[in-house]
Amino acid sequence: MIENSLALGILIAGATAFILYKINPLFKVPGPIITILTNWWILWHTYFERRNRLIHKLHIEYGSIVRLGPNEVSIADPGYVKNIYVDNYDKSHFYFLFTVYGKVNAFSAIDKATHSRSRKVVHQLYSKSAINASFIESLILEKLQQLESYLDSPQPIEVIKLFRSLAMDVITAFQFGKGHGSNLLGDGAVREAILGKFKILFTSWFFGPYLPKIAQYLYSKDFYSAAEDIDNWIIESMRKSGYPHDSIANRLIKGGLDELEAASEIADHIIAGHETSAIVLTFLTWHLSKNPEIQSKLQNEIRSAVKSNGGSLPAFKEIDKLAYLQGTVQEALRLYAPIPASEPRVVPPGGLNYRPSSPLYGQLNRGYFIPGGTVVSIQPFTLHRDPNVFEDPLLFNPERWFVNNPNLSKMNRSFLAFGAGIRGCVGSNLALQDIKLAVAYIYASYTTIVSPRTTDISMESNDRYSIRPKADECLLIFDKK
Ligand code: HEM
Repeated sequence: MIENSLALGILIAGATAFILYKINPLFKVPGPIITILTNWWILWHTYFERRNRLIHKLHIEYGSIVRLGPNEVSIADPGYVKNIYVDNYDKSHFYFLFTVYGKVNAFSAIDKATHSRSRKVVHQLYSKSAINASFIESLILEKLQQLESYLDSPQPIEVIKLFRSLAMDVITAFQFGKGHGSNLLGDGAVREAILGKFKILFTSWFFGPYLPKIAQYLYSKDFYSAAEDIDNWIIESMRKSGYPHDSIANRLIKGGLDELEAASEIADHIIAGHETSAIVLTFLTWHLSKNPEIQSKLQNEIRSAVKSNGGSLPAFKEIDKLAYLQGTVQEALRLYAPIPASEPRVVPPGGLNYRPSSPLYGQLNRGYFIPGGTVVSIQPFTLHRDPNVFEDPLLFNPERWFVNNPNLSKMNRSFLAFGAGIRGCVGSNLALQDIKLAVAYIYASYTTIVSPRTTDISMESNDRYSIRPKADECLLIFDKK
């Protein structure tokens, strides 16, 4: 009797597995069973800001490949950055949100052909040599002097707003030409208005990317009004600038884009660039403030470079060579990647034969065939914490990035803060110049301390596509010594 029931049970389980497999070949891929039936499970957790940490936990539990929904998998394997990102799978519909003025731009383009039209024009404008040849270094230094006027106070300073203003003033000047960028550091009223509107946009982060087909019905009136104001602010700033020859706007138009296409591209650079750079600076300065030993090593490096340069900050090309500064910025980008979440792509029609290239968290999965059309991604949050690659991964250790570390190329392979391949971050050189100059400028003269109101809990990052401290403030005390 028991044997018959057991046989029947096995038969039913086998038949169910067979039917589910026929319904969906991702059935075999490990993951919570509910994900074979619906993607509402992952969306639910995404909405309640648990996605990145949940996917991370799933990888620890199931290994380097996890099913997230009937048509979506997450891979945590540096060996597949090449297939998915460098070989340039098409983007998923997640990116529709980033279309502005009804015009597709480099960020929101789904397929390769549409993307390459925008990217071709923009790519060389952001190369390291183009940035070095531009006015950007002198502009950043001017802006840092403006920023410094807020630091000489015994009161704690809220730095997120200041760093967002710095990044915005720099990026907009790069877009519209020197003298035509914003002046958020100089004008408190405009700063509050503009940053407030961007905050509304960022607060509505969920609907656009994760429910693109119905997002337009779900946004609030405030969202539409903020989006319209920002769109108008950008296009009016562009028109007012008169497209000077040193602006991105000028080069985009010369590259064959019409006015709205150029504005769409620029709006995206402003959205993608100002918040991300500011968030790195926030977490980095907070981390240094909590760790006087690391801060002091960094100060020693920067201050001896200043001394060798006759008492003034060396040019960026010298700052760029400072190894401890480089390690500190890399660590901030590793542990506080401003975009730690999945960058979804679509597996091409031939499918992807996934064979794990290395064990993740000590587990080596079997291989699986991922059919064409499946949404696939690798989240930096997990790659950046892999103990097989980063020794003691939660430790903020700038020295791990020194060139004599034999693990360096392995770590670089797993470093995804700027994405990878031709769809990786076009603005990384600008961002790094901005961040490194700001850190060098501040720590050449100041020591920073965390204000008691800013705690590890208040600084815990939220769990979204792009992150911020949960309390949305970071109070530091700047001491001129
Ligand atoms: C620390 C600062 C920054 C971080 C961490 C960052 C991160 C990223 C990442 C991860 C991607 C890839 C997205 C994907 O694969 O789908 C990306 C793309 C992009 N970023 Fe950044 N970004 C930063 C700063 C900037 C700046 C300053 C700009 C422009 C001024 C910018 C403009 C863009 C654009 C246009 C793309 C789309 C590129 C394409 O698809 O061709 N970013 N960024």
